[in-house]
Amino acid sequence: MLPVKYKLEKKDGKARAGEINTPHGNIKTPVFMPVGTQATVKTMTPEELEKINAEIILGNTYHLYLRPTDEIVAKFGGLHKFMNWNKPILTDSGGFQVFSLGALRKITEEGVNFRSHIDGSKHFISPEKSISIQNNLGSDIMMAFDECPPGLADREYMKDSLERTTRWAKRCIKANKNPDRQGLFAIVQGGIYEDLRDQSLNELTEMDDHFSGYAIGGLAVGEPREDMYRILDYITPKLPEEKPRYLMGVGEPLDMLEAVANGVDMMDCVQPSRIGRHGTVFTKYGRLVIKNASYSEDTRPLDEDCDCYVCKNYTRGYIRHLFKTGEILGQRLATYHNLYFLIKMMNNAREAILNNNFYEFKKEFENNYTQGKK
Ligand code: GUN
Ligand code: ZN
Repeated sequence: MLPVKYKLEKKDGKARAGEINTPHGNIKTPVFMPVGTQATVKTMTPEELEKINAEIILGNTYHLYLRPTDEIVAKFGGLHKFMNWNKPILTDSGGFQVFSLGALRKITEEGVNFRSHIDGSKHFISPEKSISIQNNLGSDIMMAFDECPPGLADREYMKDSLERTTRWAKRCIKANKNPDRQGLFAIVQGGIYEDLRDQSLNELTEMDDHFSGYAIGGLAVGEPREDMYRILDYITPKLPEEKPRYLMGVGEPLDMLEAVANGVDMMDCVQPSRIGRHGTVFTKYGRLVIKNASYSEDTRPLDEDCDCYVCKNYTRGYIRHLFKTGEILGQRLATYHNLYFLIKMMNNAREAILNNNFYEFKKEFENNYTQGKK
């Protein structure tokens, strides 16, 4: 029996509302997953994450392997205990992070040789090593070790790469020491080519008994937005109905709703917290750059429609002041609001699907968001 299960509750067109069961609890979908790369969602305590209704967070194999090391995390009883987060955790496999190192890495059939971005020391991660690290971290959902080529890599490279990703996925299944406690997700690659996406999916679903879910990787990595939308529309409906579908690395509100419209259940991105720490926040009417002089005397909340702790208690003028003076609280408040905004948006999407009016909800959200009235 797979340790992670999915129950479809309702469909509205291709959009899906459902529930994922994991060893650390249930997740209502569609869901946005805040990213906690280094065993912390930057600036947020686990208690605050619970207050904004985060149901699952991400951790990163690559970063935690380098610091503090997965062995040390295991000594603390795993990542949940180490960081005091008792709800579900998904760990990315390190593939994407290692490939982002550019010149610092070399790919072979066996795995990836790379140098640490911290001190230049030499390391090697293979499918077996990635799973061993994720077993030590004890996440509820592990990702298969894949290669994520640049969005505009040529067709021939994409084909070789996705075939290697399939062979690596097979090795990940074999390496998993906790198949009854930690679910494994496959990652569909193939870039912007429909037939290569089909090939990747067909090869991976041959091992379907071993996968608790499927991710769509290799999107939002430099390809034009139309290509991303075309591939989402093409491949998402073909993923197995009875398993969760995860779009990796997408966190722009309009892209997220487009993904939900095509049947995606889970999404993550560092973008909302990263732009938050730099003073850019989401509002109903689009992004707002809080440092702008025009907000110095603005007594409104960041987003007049938001009912988060930040928007109920602080003004734009005050938060602008915090950013202008470099006070840490500014970063905390902006992160809190941005994560709340996306989690709330996904909950609203879920409600709309359950009420059969997702597409009207999406249209209205888009109309407001692109209006630019702040
Ligand atoms: N994060 C964003 N895209 C990807 C991907 O294609 N693979 C992995 N492992 N992580 C990602
Ligand atoms: Zn808010």
